[in-house]
Amino acid sequence: NAMLAWQRTAFHFQPQKNWMNDPNGPLYYKGWYHLFYQWNPDGAVWGNITWGHAVSRDLVHWLHLPLAMVPDHWYDINGVWTGSATQLPDGRIMMLYTGSTEDGVQVQLLAEPADPSDPLLRRWAKSEANPVLVPPPGVGLTDFRDPTTAWLNPADKAWRIAIGSKNQEHAGLALVYSTEDFVHYDLLPTLLHVVQGTGMWECVDFYPVSAELAAGVGLDTSAAPGPGVKHVLKASLDYDRNDYYAIGTYDPATDRWAPDDAAIDVGIGLRYDYGKFYASKTFYDPVGRRRVLWGWIGESDSERADVLKGWASLQSIPRTVLMDTKTGSNLLQWPVVEVENLRMRGKRFDGLDLQPGSVVPLDVGRATQFQVQAGAAAAGSVAAGAEAPYNCSASAGAAGRGLLGPFGLLVVADDSLSEQTAVYFYLVRGADGKLSTHFCQDAFRSSRANDLVKAVYGSSVPVLTGEDLSVRILVDHSIVESFAQGGRTCITSRVYPTKAIYDSARVFLFNNATNVNVTAKSIKIWELNSAYIRPYPDSS
Ligand code: FRU
Repeated sequence: NAMLAWQRTAFHFQPQKNWMNDPNGPLYYKGWYHLFYQWNPDGAVWGNITWGHAVSRDLVHWLHLPLAMVPDHWYDINGVWTGSATQLPDGRIMMLYTGSTEDGVQVQLLAEPADPSDPLLRRWAKSEANPVLVPPPGVGLTDFRDPTTAWLNPADKAWRIAIGSKNQEHAGLALVYSTEDFVHYDLLPTLLHVVQGTGMWECVDFYPVSAELAAGVGLDTSAAPGPGVKHVLKASLDYDRNDYYAIGTYDPATDRWAPDDAAIDVGIGLRYDYGKFYASKTFYDPVGRRRVLWGWIGESDSERADVLKGWASLQSIPRTVLMDTKTGSNLLQWPVVEVENLRMRGKRFDGLDLQPGSVVPLDVGRATQFQVQAGAAAAGSVAAGAEAPYNCSASAGAAGRGLLGPFGLLVVADDSLSEQTAVYFYLVRGADGKLSTHFCQDAFRSSRANDLVKAVYGSSVPVLTGEDLSVRILVDHSIVESFAQGGRTCITSRVYPTKAIYDSARVFLFNNATNVNVTAKSIKIWELNSAYIRPYPDSS
């Protein structure tokens, strides 16, 4: 089936077949980036969870390796679940992960490379001491999972890890343990953090970012807190399947973290991505001196379709994560620089004017795997008085018409626009007379098929005085990943067109606002090459 075959991506990481979920234990070792992931060896739906494994020199091209870990002990027979890697100063790797026991209890487990001289880390030895942690008193037996990468507490020089949970009042929280050898642990009396109403925290991530102006580099997970260092706390919320983060301060004396702004605390404020993006995890890349984020991108089609096509889920394009020192209040996410090496034929369009109500094709030929970078200025006339607040998800999407939006791009569209995914901005004047900018992605008309979830995703995006609007979009067959204003707000959608595939996929600009002229000042678009994602030579 050509339509289903088209949906496989060309430069996103995905296994050769079957179900995948969370990225696990990303790390850099002896010249190779390692990615592990939750994988079902038996089919295209969740179950029988094992650790898949692949390595890369550049985070773009991958070599699949044999399974790193499978459920083969009483303590992980119901699944080798999510975990994180910690590299000790002496080079050893401690892999901590969750096992679901024969009774379905969540316990924490330790594994180490069986042969540390193998740069590919193909064999893993589960510790004799397993399980190294069981749910403590008061913690639900199935509410105790996904240990973080450890960080060194500068006060007592012992390691700390955090583990996500929830309490009986439905507050999400992160427990902290102290350890020196990764086998024995002490539960600390205080929580790293807790937020009412947020439910179970899955896949907690905790790491420092440099808040120094124009620092431009990432920090090792154990970088000491201090002036110019902020800490990010992220939780994946079980109940709404989104990854929420907040920026704040970590106090090593108490092992507590507090948000800079309690109004946008973890789970009630910012998200890494306003589309399909979950269970993410970062790691520090010592070679690139950067922090890199991986996220699990699920499907928006039906389980039946997944079984038919024989696979489900992608990993996001790995994204570098930095503090946005211009706003001081959000992160910046940007595809790792190595993605640029995939660029092939490029085209540039300058100074295109978009009158209200216009749709303009971009003459780039087939557009199923490409990158666009667009900068625009919007000049509008707005009548006095405030407009109603805008909310991407509750809006009519690109078909709606407002004074100052929507305008943007239509991707994975066919010539007749019967299928299209809109990536757009929408400006509104608020009660205070100020303009606010919303960034949205509309998949309502992404496909003529109807066994799909089609939504408008998005949020507001900070635009500072004097800045143009800008967006970068990566399209790779069935995924559209967008980054507005240098990565302040990101949106990922999955799309399953029936007509806008192969040679029929096109790109357009559109302006559906009634009172704004948009000048697309510069648009650069590159066809992107396919990445090599190769099977392991010995696998049958
Ligand atoms: C998140 C998650 C984790 C768990 C794993 C199981 O998607 O539910 O909490 O460890 O997936 O596959």
